[in-house]
Amino acid sequence: MTKTTITRRRFIQWAGLGSLGLAAGGTALRRLTPAQAAGSAAHDVEINLTAAPAQQAILSGATTTVWKYTAALVKGDAANLVTLPNTYLGPIIHLRAGQRVRINFNNNIGEESIVHWHGLHVPHEADGHPSYVINDGESYVYEFDVLDRAGTYWYHPHPHGRTGPQAYMGLAGLFYISDGAEDLAGLPTGSYDLPLVIQDRTFDTGNQLVYSADSAGFLGDQILINGQPNTTPLSVEALPYRLRLLNGSNSRIYKLAWADGTPLSVIATDGGLLEKAVSRNYLMLAPGERAELLVDFSQWTVGNTVTLKSLAYSGAAGNNATLPPGSEFTVADFQITAATTTPTTPTIYKSYLPIITGDGTTPPPPAGVTRSFQLYMQQGTWTIDGRTFETTNVVNEEIVTLGDREIWEFDNNSPFGGGGGDNNGQPHPMHIHGLQFRIVSRTPPSNSTQYNNWLTVKDGYVDDGWQDTVLLMPGEKVQVDVTFKDYTGLFLYHCHNLEHEDMGMMRNYRVDL
Ligand code: C2O
Ligand code: CU
Ligand code: CU
Repeated sequence: MTKTTITRRRFIQWAGLGSLGLAAGGTALRRLTPAQAAGSAAHDVEINLTAAPAQQAILSGATTTVWKYTAALVKGDAANLVTLPNTYLGPIIHLRAGQRVRINFNNNIGEESIVHWHGLHVPHEADGHPSYVINDGESYVYEFDVLDRAGTYWYHPHPHGRTGPQAYMGLAGLFYISDGAEDLAGLPTGSYDLPLVIQDRTFDTGNQLVYSADSAGFLGDQILINGQPNTTPLSVEALPYRLRLLNGSNSRIYKLAWADGTPLSVIATDGGLLEKAVSRNYLMLAPGERAELLVDFSQWTVGNTVTLKSLAYSGAAGNNATLPPGSEFTVADFQITAATTTPTTPTIYKSYLPIITGDGTTPPPPAGVTRSFQLYMQQGTWTIDGRTFETTNVVNEEIVTLGDREIWEFDNNSPFGGGGGDNNGQPHPMHIHGLQFRIVSRTPPSNSTQYNNWLTVKDGYVDDGWQDTVLLMPGEKVQVDVTFKDYTGLFLYHCHNLEHEDMGMMRNYRVDL
């Protein structure tokens, strides 16, 4: 662990601009305890969200027992809750930036749980920290302002040690945010705005979910798209679509590409739209990550089927004989049907990314790495700096100051070794709660085997936008630019391989005044 603190002088210079007062004012307005929230009536949208067992038809034959989020709108517009057909996935919660939402979470799954809003900048009390787990039959009230940019976020359970199995049983849903800047981009809307949640599952002969994990995580035998197998192609019209991808898998990492070699037009990452679309022959998508594609299906012939695949790559970890890690397989088929409307052409995104320096509320980036976190295995357990999760504890190196901007480095080329029973290490999609970051740099692996493996994935990174999760392949090092705004308290950073997370590859960082 290395730590170089931002110089006091720089901090004072920045604070002198008046932004500290602004940040403090924002904090006073935005920080709210659950008790205060319960007494506040100022929310625009209120949702009752329940997690409970359900029966779902997934494969032909017997239904599958799943755990499912269902929701009812107490206050708001019908468009705030979009229920997807034929799926265990929870409804899409769709809000606008600037809205204030209250969500009453009811846990009926028979064990402790809590909901986390992945990617959202919310107060500690609303972040779904494992210390806030509630028992079966209990409720938790969330209330927060929607401060994030338009984009594709998601929600899932976050009890320590049980996130993997609970998400696997079906507990996950999308969370969309819209804003004025997105409106101006003129993207396809309505039925031309398609979610594509990619997950892998294993079923027994009675169609029931099978879960077993090892230190590499869990890999399923087959791919589900929006909770359904790819038995019938998804029907799309010969028109432009906005495809919102979420890797909702526990451990599997996808290398997505059109089977016919057509490049992917990537328009958004975790934290919303990119400044301009980028073209990729393939796209790496790690657990927890989102990406959006703009796809003009009119480039293919009506009546044809186009296939989204995951291509072969090296450096994947895990065990599954049916669908081996890093193997090539079909993700989803799309059947092209005739257009029923006239397409509108999306505008080019120009200056869409908010400026990250000089906007008056963000201090300049520090020179050099503020903190470096080593990712390695110790005594059979994945760790961050040799430590595993402690419910409310932080070490000194995990305490940051409200308003500070830092460069965090995640080092998957640790001198302590990759571990995992071999010298090749494992991929770790590192996720930071409570904020969106920018990727500053990647350092390729120094070991030649790892370097050659890395060559099979590197062109699929999209490091141009806001992210909350970043994939580190074995041997890789990544630096990210983070700013701690608005909220003090405990937040998590962890590997989003859910089994790594559950085994303790998760720590708190604390934002102090
Ligand atoms: Cu999506 Cu802490 O996680
Ligand atoms: Cu998260
Ligand atoms: Cu990991």
